[in-house]
Amino acid sequence: MAQLGDDIFYTYRPGRANYSPVLLLHGTGGEETDLLDIGAGLFPDSPLIGLRGRIQENGQTRYFRHTPTGGFDAQDLVAGEKWLLTSMVALLKHLDLPAAPPIVIGYSNGANIAADLMLRGGPVFHAAILLHPMAVSDPVPKRDNTPLAGIPVWLSHGRDDRIVPVPTFNALVQGFIDQGAQVFTHASDAGHQITLQEIEGARLWLDRFEQPDDTEGKQ
Ligand code: MLT
Repeated sequence: MAQLGDDIFYTYRPGRANYSPVLLLHGTGGEETDLLDIGAGLFPDSPLIGLRGRIQENGQTRYFRHTPTGGFDAQDLVAGEKWLLTSMVALLKHLDLPAAPPIVIGYSNGANIAADLMLRGGPVFHAAILLHPMAVSDPVPKRDNTPLAGIPVWLSHGRDDRIVPVPTFNALVQGFIDQGAQVFTHASDAGHQITLQEIEGARLWLDRFEQPDDTEGKQ
């Protein structure tokens, strides 16, 4: 674990200098190292940054709060998105990585904040792998034209997921389609947990996108 400033706790695994960094956002109760193996499996040569959620709720680390009645706290969600953007920019600078939008891999709460930020804030990530996400804003953020045109977004859902009802997954997918993203969905009979099959599905999808070839550029 490393720390930057007061509230950025992260882990870093260097990669090739000219490969897009990959930001890893864990699920509720997780930590910055949770998605390192998945990130390394999908992007073996890329710099990986795991970022720990900024709040604790009932002893669990998250990126934004619930309201006392159990809904999503819309104000804290926006505050979390601002923090996520600021932290990302600060980390890229601190780690001497390109200031261009990174790729994001998020799971559950981490996928939810990444997805909502993309829908609200434009192409802050240049590709997204969202594991078991759902819409956390109601209505789903809409914007004119197609600000996410050409951005590849891969989303997984388990038909037996008790945390992510099908309509909230579908609403999120539609939000991405409406903003022009290049959407691909992966459905399974699983629940909320990440499965090897879905990671393999994401890997096959990723094979279509090539990173620049630079055998000299290893850091
Ligand atoms: C959320 O709180 O973002 C969703 O309910 C998923 C989760 O439990 O993390």
